[in-house]
Amino acid sequence: MKIFLADTEATLGLGIALGESLPPGSVILLEGDLGAGKTTLVQGIGKGLGITEPIVSPTFTLINEYTEGRLPLYHLDLYRLEPQEVLSLNLESYWEGVEVTPGIVAIEWAERMPYKPDSYLSISLTYGDEGDRQAEITPFDCAIDKIIAVIDSRILQVGSQNSV
Ligand SMILES: Nc1ncnc2c1ncn2[C@@H]1O[C@H](COP(=O)(O)OP(=O)(O)OP(=O)(O)O)[C@@H](O)[C@H]1O
Ligand SMILES: [Mg+2]
Repeated sequence: MKIFLADTEATLGLGIALGESLPPGSVILLEGDLGAGKTTLVQGIGKGLGITEPIVSPTFTLINEYTEGRLPLYHLDLYRLEPQEVLSLNLESYWEGVEVTPGIVAIEWAERMPYKPDSYLSISLTYGDEGDRQAEITPFDCAIDKIIAVIDSRILQVGSQNSV
């Protein structure tokens, strides 16, 4: 599904809808050019999970963990890594939830991953002509009917707020 994101608030709103509804063990692979809104979306997810701590880009730390919300949020940014270096991170430990508490795994620059989980949500963010953004959400082997319903209602809410 494609979603029009008119401004930063819309990107946050989509993230909030996801944070409120995603089940534990969800992996979100974020793709999109520099500044496309990946971190903004994860900030929304954090909000939706009830995390009050500011979510900052993990470009230099590679991974930030937030544990105060409904589920833990693991936020990764692979921008500075080569696929070979990504391999050594053992990312699967995050989505298998064996060594870590199952939560939401959000990965920026997922293009850098040499392998992917069995099931995940791909979100690709692109620039629009008017400084806006578009999100293309593609589920891979995961049920998102419920999530789509939540997103729909959230987008409607955003729309009605915008029209006031
Ligand atoms: N829908 C939108 N319309 C316009 N601006 C937006 C939208 N969503 C986010 N932004 C703005 O885009 C800028 C960059 O966002 P963000 O840092 O989230 O991008 P990013 O994809 O994480 O970048 P990077 O590739 O550096 O990690 C921010 O100023 C943010 O407020
Ligand atoms: Mg970012």
